[in-house]
Amino acid sequence: NQTQLIDNFGRRVSYVRISITDRCDFRCVYCMDEEMTFMPRERLLTLEEIAFLVRAFCELGVEKVRITGGEPLVRRNVDWLIEQIGALKHTTSLKELNLTTNGSQLPKYAEKLAAAGMDRINISLDSLNADRFRELTRTGELTQVLDGIEAAKQAGFKRIKLNAVIMKGRNDDEIVDLAQFAIDNELDISYIEEMPLGQVTHSRNESYCSSDEVLATLQKHFDLQTSIANTGGPSRYYQVAGTRSKIGFISPHSHNFCESCNRVRVTTEGRLLLCLGQEHSMDLRDIIRRHPGDIEQLKQAIIKSMDIKPKGHDFNIKEQPIIFRHMSVTGG
Ligand code: GTP
Ligand code: 5AD
Ligand code: SF4
Repeated sequence: NQTQLIDNFGRRVSYVRISITDRCDFRCVYCMDEEMTFMPRERLLTLEEIAFLVRAFCELGVEKVRITGGEPLVRRNVDWLIEQIGALKHTTSLKELNLTTNGSQLPKYAEKLAAAGMDRINISLDSLNADRFRELTRTGELTQVLDGIEAAKQAGFKRIKLNAVIMKGRNDDEIVDLAQFAIDNELDISYIEEMPLGQVTHSRNESYCSSDEVLATLQKHFDLQTSIANTGGPSRYYQVAGTRSKIGFISPHSHNFCESCNRVRVTTEGRLLLCLGQEHSMDLRDIIRRHPGDIEQLKQAIIKSMDIKPKGHDFNIKEQPIIFRHMSVTGG
């Protein structure tokens, strides 16, 4: 009869997303400014603190943990952290440990991740054209990511998912090609509406492309079957008939999914963020540093945080940016 995390709207929090670094080897146009100032290292949670924090959540009924960033795999000794968290599957309610990555470091890490108990990997891929890929990521090379996808497949990962943020005039002509690539490689793919997080260089107002437009384009080429049950997350999935691939849509603007929200986030600095689109938060780093090793104290604080989980976000693409944090700090 374990304590569970239930908020004031009756939603159970069973999923924690944690950003382990705000640094990244790419500078995607929708995510970062050309010149980014990263967090001074002493403000980041240490890997030991992250492992401790995740344990507290998993002793409170959390079943799913996702490691995000920034690019999580550029953090030194990340494999140690993954092993620590992976081991929680034997001692706590944790069932699934997942990673969101840009893929660039997967040739180096895929095997190690599989051995440490990583379950699923999501890889960002916004273009299949090398020049354009470089434009969109500013510092990335398409071949790195393609090699990364291959490495993840070789390491035995199943249900690898691609993430594509679609922007008008930048990559909306690749909607079908990206889906075809996913199908050919037996991967799933999610199309994401751009979110107004952090100041970036382009006008999000002009680049905004709704999921309905993406869906309409895809339906001209593929037979999409809606029967797939919702996974409890914000994605709406379709099975592509006759293939092993699913296509998902994350549409915070056009299809609000807050009612069934099951998640909270932890930022790189150890701020527990109760909604991606709001500032309601609790400083867990402060608690950990004031009471080192005291997991009960930490758990009580986390339970209390449920009282301030807001009903939902109110992203408004027309009045941006409402949120000044970048996605890299927040953890995708
Ligand atoms: P699952 O863990 O399987 O639900 O995967 P996911 O697709 O949610 O995870 P991923 O890290 O690949 O995220 C893809 C995109 O979905 C990112 O841009 C996330 O910011 C976005 N996303 C995930 N959860 C939420 C949410 O609760 N609200 C909003 N607005 N966006 C979210
Ligand atoms: N809007 C939507 N998605 C974003 N991502 C990063 N920044 C944004 C944004 N402003 C996505 C990346 C990656 C995931 C972790 O978050 O594409 O797939
Ligand atoms: Fe890096 Fe991901 Fe942000 Fe791109 S979207 S800059 S890969 S953190």
